[in-house]
Amino acid sequence: MHDFKYIGHELYCEKVRVRDIVEKVGSPAYIYSYKTFTDHIAKIQKAFQSVNPLICYSMKANSSLAILDAVVKKGAGLDIVSGGELYRAQRVGCHPQKIVFAGVGKSAEEIEAALRYGILFFNVESEPELKLIHQIAESMKKRARVSLRINPDVDAHTHDHITTGKAESKFGIDLATAKGIFSRQKQYSAIDFCAIHVHIGSQIVSGDPFVKAFKKVLKFIDDIEKTYRLKIEYLNLGGGLAAVYKNEKPQTAEDYARKILPLFKGRKFRLVFEPGRFVSANGGILAGKVLYVKQTNVKNFAITDTAMNDLIRPTLYEAHHEVLPLTENPKARKWIYDVVGPVCESGDVLARDRHLQELNAGDYVAFMTAGAYGFVMASNYNSRLKPCEVLVKGSRFEVVRKRETYPQIIAGETIPNF
Ligand code: LLP
Repeated sequence: MHDFKYIGHELYCEKVRVRDIVEKVGSPAYIYSYKTFTDHIAKIQKAFQSVNPLICYSMKANSSLAILDAVVKKGAGLDIVSGGELYRAQRVGCHPQKIVFAGVGKSAEEIEAALRYGILFFNVESEPELKLIHQIAESMKKRARVSLRINPDVDAHTHDHITTGKAESKFGIDLATAKGIFSRQKQYSAIDFCAIHVHIGSQIVSGDPFVKAFKKVLKFIDDIEKTYRLKIEYLNLGGGLAAVYKNEKPQTAEDYARKILPLFKGRKFRLVFEPGRFVSANGGILAGKVLYVKQTNVKNFAITDTAMNDLIRPTLYEAHHEVLPLTENPKARKWIYDVVGPVCESGDVLARDRHLQELNAGDYVAFMTAGAYGFVMASNYNSRLKPCEVLVKGSRFEVVRKRETYPQIIAGETIPNF
C-alpha cells in the first residue's frame, strides 16, 4: 500500500499534486509520503503486537532526518551501521535503548561513540570486532551489550548483491565459530552476551528462507543456553521483507507474523526487527523532467534530468522502477523508451524498454518505489547536484533537504600550494 495515485490523470502524493511540487521546488526531486512511512511501521507493530517486539527501522534505507523523526515519533527505534547514522539518530532524539548497531567494520571511534550514547546492543560480526569492543568498553569502564550475528548459511533467493546469509558472504559468524566465542566468554568480562542476530538478505518475497534460517538459529540458542548457562534476552531477526516494484507478490507483515511467530511460542526473549525497505520503498518517488527525446534507428531515448547518480539501483542491481508520467494522457500514443540520464556512462539507464505514453521535452516522470536505497545511495558523480527531498503530509508539503549547490559540492576541497 502506498499513497501515490492518479486522480483525474494527475499523479498525487497524498493530497498534493506531484506536478505542483516539482513546479515549485524544481527537478529532480525525491518526494516522500509521511503517511506511507508511518502506516508501514504501524503495520509491523500491529502484526506483531502479541509479542511486543522492538522495531528498529533500518535507517540505511532512507535516513532523511524528516523520515527518522516520523518513524521515531511513531515509536520505532533505529538500526544503525555507522557513526554518521548514530549522529542522525541522536539528532532526532532516538532513545539510546532503541538503537542497535550492525556492520562488519565498526571503527574504534564509532564503537566509543555508541558506548557513550548507551545503545541497546552491537550486532557483532567477528571475533576481532568483539575484542575491540571489549577493550574499548573496559577502558571506558563500561559494559558493552552484544548480539552475535549468526550466519546460518541459508540462501535468501534474492539478488546476489543483497543476499547476506550464505557461508561465502562477509556477514555474520558461522555457527561453529560463534559457539567457540561463547566458550571463551569469560575472556570478555566487559561484554554482556545478551542477544543473537540474524539477517539473511533483502527483498525476500517468501517466508520460507526466513523460517529455515530462524529454525537454525533457535537450535543454536538452545545449544548455547544449555551448554554455557546463559539467557538470551533478545533475538534480532533483521530486516529483509520485500516491497512491490513490479509484479512481485511479497508476504505482508501479517503473513510474515503468521508464518514465523509459531516458531517463537513459549520463548522468553524479546524479538527485534530491522525493517528498512518494507517501511520506506514505496513511500517515495524520484521525479524528473524529460530534457530531450532522441530517436535512433533502434531506440527511443527519453533523456531526463535525473540519472544513475540520483538513483543507482537500476544500474547496480538491474532493479526495476516503474516509470509514470506525472500527467497521464490516455489518448497519447505509446512508444517503447529507454529512460536515461545525462551521466556519461552507457549504464546510466533508469528504465529499459518501457511502453510509455509519448514523451516530449518538458514532461515530468516519476520513478516509483524509490523511497528505499534511493537518495541515500545518491552521489555527486559527474559533479551533479544531489536532488532535493520533499515530505508530503496530507495537503501540505515541505522541502526537507534543499537541492545541493555548486559551492557545497566543492566545499572542503583545496588546490595545494606545491
Ligand atoms: N539489517 C541489516 C543487518 C541489514 O544489512 C539490512 C540491509 C537491513 C536490516 C534492512 O534490510 P531491508 O529490510 O531493507 O531489506 N541497497 C540495496 C539493499 C541493501 C540492503 C543492505 N542491508 C538495494 O537497493 O536493494
